[in-house]
Amino acid sequence: MTTSRLSDKFRLVEMVAVDSTNEEAKRLACSGAADGTLVWAQRQTAGRGRRGRVWTSEPGNLYASFVLRPNCAPFQAAQLTFVAALAVRDMLTIFLNNSDTIACKWPNDVLIGGRKISGILLESSTAGSGIVDWLVLGIGVNLRHHPDIAGRHPATDLSAEGAGAVASSSALETLAIAFAERRGEWLHGGFEAVRNAWLKHAYGLGQTAHIKLENASHSGLFIGIDESGALRLKADGCAEQLFAAGEVTFERSD
Ligand code: BTN
Repeated sequence: MTTSRLSDKFRLVEMVAVDSTNEEAKRLACSGAADGTLVWAQRQTAGRGRRGRVWTSEPGNLYASFVLRPNCAPFQAAQLTFVAALAVRDMLTIFLNNSDTIACKWPNDVLIGGRKISGILLESSTAGSGIVDWLVLGIGVNLRHHPDIAGRHPATDLSAEGAGAVASSSALETLAIAFAERRGEWLHGGFEAVRNAWLKHAYGLGQTAHIKLENASHSGLFIGIDESGALRLKADGCAEQLFAAGEVTFERSD
């Protein structure tokens, strides 16, 4: 890709192969890379998902990581995963005729028809001042293939959803534009603006959700997210509960 096709907000680092774009982005961040450095690879040899899971990374899908220096506290920086999920959703709507079934699943997946098409992995380092020094936002989007995952939320890819063969360069370009716009909304409107937009496309809102924590699990109606992005669950006869992290599944998968 020629860098001129990318917004001037980003500086592209393009690679044929890398262990993980997040790892490369972190290496660059530690050596002083500027806000907006964007690492993009055709394939990853050690792609990672959340909770140490492997992220299958054959050529054909999108693997990219943004280095950001948001100059804010860690709790605010974490809001950028919602910003990224909205940007991924915006990007997918450009390539698909029907955007009704594209949803954001808490905390940071994007689904089409209940099937996972994208995952986001945020990693950050905070300086002694309590301000985030750098943040790496890694985004994987299944464009041409997807892993065969059983369970409540199996995977899908853009071509399986009828978008044809989308080049990873086009997906990246579209994603970068969408991310710059959504980040601007976050900067000017705060998390409230992002939260409202995210809730419009939230997967499973009003449905029974199960959240798995390290040593426990809870169920209840998914009634929204709070002003910090925590999941709000309400079980019959109980006070509302808030969860900052966890693995969520829903009873139905549409
Ligand atoms: C998840 O859903 O568990 C998060 C998946 C994040 C995958 C992306 S692909 C680009 C970047 N590099 C990685 O090693 N992981 C993220």
